[in-house]
Amino acid sequence: MLSRLLQKKYFRIGALSLGIIAVLIAIPVVANQMFDEEVIGDFKHVKTEYDEKHTPKIECPDEVGVGEWFDVTITIGAGAVHPTLYEHYVNWIGIYKNDVELARAYLHPIYTMPKVTFTIALEESATLVAMEQPNHTAPWRASKEIKVIKK
Ligand SMILES: [Fe+2]
Repeated sequence: MLSRLLQKKYFRIGALSLGIIAVLIAIPVVANQMFDEEVIGDFKHVKTEYDEKHTPKIECPDEVGVGEWFDVTITIGAGAVHPTLYEHYVNWIGIYKNDVELARAYLHPIYTMPKVTFTIALEESATLVAMEQPNHTAPWRASKEIKVIKK
């Protein structure tokens, strides 16, 4: 019975079509999962709890003028400097205005201290977010409100 069914031309075309449709559906699903893991990765699990060696320390004025350049120094971490060894270091430090990345600095183990200064300007009050990616855990995040005033 089954062999007779498989021999029918229309059945084979139908089965082949279903197979192609299944593959076409699976490709974007798998590609999306790969993108999530490779590009977004640990951002799904950003750490916000305080840790003296991992929480970014943000140093900048509380209040700035509209469009005025100011420095934002980010040190990892907030209570003690994070190690910078080949097996344990900070890959990069980034600064965000709310959820928009403004800049990112990549660091090398041994030769760079996990501390960077970005010079930025804001047009409106915002939440500045500092993000750091160690080579051994999910990223760590800290934030600070900046008030932008007309001077
Ligand atoms: Fe660490």
